[in-house]
Amino acid sequence: MASVDERADRLVIFYASQTGNAEWIAKSLDKSAAERGYQCRCLAMDDHAEVELEQERVLAFVVSTTGDGDPPDNSLKFWRWLRRNKQSDLLQHTQYAILGLGDTNYDNFCNTAKRLEKRLQEKAARPFYPTGRADDATGLEEVVDPWIDNLWPALAAVCKSSRETAQSVSAVDQLLDNTMAAETAEPAAQVVASDKLADGIKDVHIAEPVPEVKKPTAGETAAASGAYPAYVLDLDTSALDQGLSQLSNLAKSPVDLCEVVALPADANVSAVRKLPPVFFNTPTPLLYARIKTARTLTQPEAVKRTLHLELEMLQRPEADSPLIADELDVLPGDSFGIICENDPGLVQAILEQLDCVDTADQPVRVQSLVDENGIAASLGQTTVRELLTHALDLQGTLRKSTIRLLADVSQDLRDQHPTLLDLLVTFPSARPPIGRLLGALSALQPRSYSCTNTPLLHPRELHCAFNIAEYVDAHGRQRHGVCTPWLDRISRPWQGATSTLAASPILRVYLRPNVTNFRVPDAAIHHPMILIGPGTGVAPFIGFLAHRSEQRRLRLSMGGISRVPSRAVDALFGPIQLYYGCRDDRLDFLYRDEIMRAQNDRTLSELVLACSRKPEHGRRYVQDGLYERGADVWRIMSAENGIIFVCGDATGMARDVNTALAEIVQQHGGAADMKEALATLAEWTQQGRYLRDLRSDTRHK
Ligand SMILES: Cc1cc2nc3c(=O)[nH]c(=O)nc-3n(C[C@H](O)[C@H](O)[C@H](O)COP(=O)(O)OP(=O)(O)OC[C@H]3O[C@@H](n4cnc5c(N)ncnc54)[C@H](O)[C@@H]3O)c2cc1C
Ligand SMILES: Cc1cc2nc3c(=O)[nH]c(=O)nc-3n(C[C@H](O)[C@H](O)[C@H](O)COP(=O)(O)O)c2cc1C
Repeated sequence: MASVDERADRLVIFYASQTGNAEWIAKSLDKSAAERGYQCRCLAMDDHAEVELEQERVLAFVVSTTGDGDPPDNSLKFWRWLRRNKQSDLLQHTQYAILGLGDTNYDNFCNTAKRLEKRLQEKAARPFYPTGRADDATGLEEVVDPWIDNLWPALAAVCKSSRETAQSVSAVDQLLDNTMAAETAEPAAQVVASDKLADGIKDVHIAEPVPEVKKPTAGETAAASGAYPAYVLDLDTSALDQGLSQLSNLAKSPVDLCEVVALPADANVSAVRKLPPVFFNTPTPLLYARIKTARTLTQPEAVKRTLHLELEMLQRPEADSPLIADELDVLPGDSFGIICENDPGLVQAILEQLDCVDTADQPVRVQSLVDENGIAASLGQTTVRELLTHALDLQGTLRKSTIRLLADVSQDLRDQHPTLLDLLVTFPSARPPIGRLLGALSALQPRSYSCTNTPLLHPRELHCAFNIAEYVDAHGRQRHGVCTPWLDRISRPWQGATSTLAASPILRVYLRPNVTNFRVPDAAIHHPMILIGPGTGVAPFIGFLAHRSEQRRLRLSMGGISRVPSRAVDALFGPIQLYYGCRDDRLDFLYRDEIMRAQNDRTLSELVLACSRKPEHGRRYVQDGLYERGADVWRIMSAENGIIFVCGDATGMARDVNTALAEIVQQHGGAADMKEALATLAEWTQQGRYLRDLRSDTRHK
């Protein structure tokens, strides 16, 4: 065990990350701290047992917020552990710093960081540096970079004071007093003391020479290999001509987290593998699945195309393997992750731009430059093509650090949301080594989908519905997402047919049980439910309806309920209202048959339909239906112990619905003002009666 003295120079960095940002920042921090001579560990919060937390002197946390103010999946065990631990002085020797990542488009901005701070203080830990709250809506780096820059002096002071305990009060507390004063002086700031921190930056070192930038012809379009669309960006790079001084305020270049080492050509990697490697640590075990069927839920004239997909779980990763013997532990309201892959045309185009086509399929080993648990540890032996196909997010908006030479001098670059390929095509002389790209690009994340099926009917299957993300961006460029176009491509043979002779590819999925109560109530079946889910937000509710319909059928089939069994079943199960929205019900009414069936068998008591693009009916949204039925909504919630479930877009719809509910509480529940009405909504949330499963439509801003 390390002595107290040794621990004083130690820094343990924990991250909680859903889509990789916090993990990446934590690992960069780990590397920089190690370079400064600290003994570092960098761990997901769920791996906290790898250190003796209560013995550690100095902790740094980088934590994001997901869902509706929820902590990321890879921190849930940590939270459970902390909740169960009743020792109030557990962390009395610990000092901490927290960097929160969030997005002000969401109601609960940086909620994980706020909760963490509260819990750490309840356990007697003390902050040595003010909490940073970085906002994805304006650019994380605006807070992250100065927060890290100013962490170093605070860290040096706290480590020194840990060693010299006798002097501990003066230096650290002085520093803390100063920085806390800065924080309290700025009460409404969501970006905690960021201006203050930014002031402290005198000099940002440019570690590398600025590459010569070839000026593209505005609007010129290049197509790399011709197979995949790429766009020469329309940029004003004239500021670069003014010299290096222009670059003094730019974000840091990404640190190298790993390097790619060529192996002898006879170490043939892919040939011996049935499936490509998975470069992502899933929170629950990986499951193998094959496509059972797929069908289009929308009409050809609809603006968006929506697919329904059914997956069967297999015992082994082979398409002809038997289905898994055990039933899945899943309920409507839960979702599952799908490990997806990049478009092969895009991968090929990038390989061509990087001059790597000839070596793309040769074996390489990815070596971590960070530590044993670093990003590369799980990557092992692979090929460059596999890395580009499965490990890296090639389409996400690039981090500012990745394009630091251009970003600040050219706002229009960021506005154009360039992809990696666009940048490579715009600057054809740029040939970053793959190892550096591994450090600079985000990891390719699995995508999540709500289960639309019930285990009562399909215990070994996972069904879902999704819009295929294909769109024209603000600059008229054709773009598409990663996972849904890929699912569309691989499920083509099944679309429109219930069976097919095609062999299914093997999909890797994993369960994401909902950590809030956003699941069909399995036991407390008498609660009335108000389900609000426009577009694909209806997906979990299709599962709810199927589940409840089957529960009702089973109850009826038991017999002996009363002389009028259907009435007795109605009395047993609470009524369900569904507020569903689409653009035009003739074109994009998802799951119309299933919803009608639920109405016919009395599972669904009422459907409130809102069409936003049907001129003859006016533009109606789900919240309009709520306003119209305000008295009914209030009665269900106040007198009948009802539960409201909302699923879909976090920024637009969820806010409008929240406002509508608050106004209903004012109008029908007598709340004096908005503040009081919102307090009622918060109370319902606390009671598990106002539940939201939200996702962002603007993840890649
Ligand atoms: C818990 C959870 C459950 C979910 N359940 C579902 C579900 O049941 N069904 C479902 O469809 N999705 C669901 N999602 C969202 C889903 O995980 C994916 O984010 C979505 O399918 C897009 O993935 P993709 O890889 O195809 O696109 P990505 O590669 O992620 O690209 C999507 C991005 O492209 C951009 N974009 C897309 N369309 C446009 C446009 N018209 N204009 C401008 N920009 C645009 C946006 O920035 C968007 O964020 C869920 C998300 C979570 C977190
Ligand atoms: C589905 C989803 C839900 C989110 N919910 C919230 C939220 O409730 N509050 C918040 O401040 N940020 C929210 N965010 C923003 C993320 O915290 C932010 O994008 C962060 O950079 C993600 O970091 P990560 O990649 O480490 O998870 C959400 C993002 C997504 C994609």
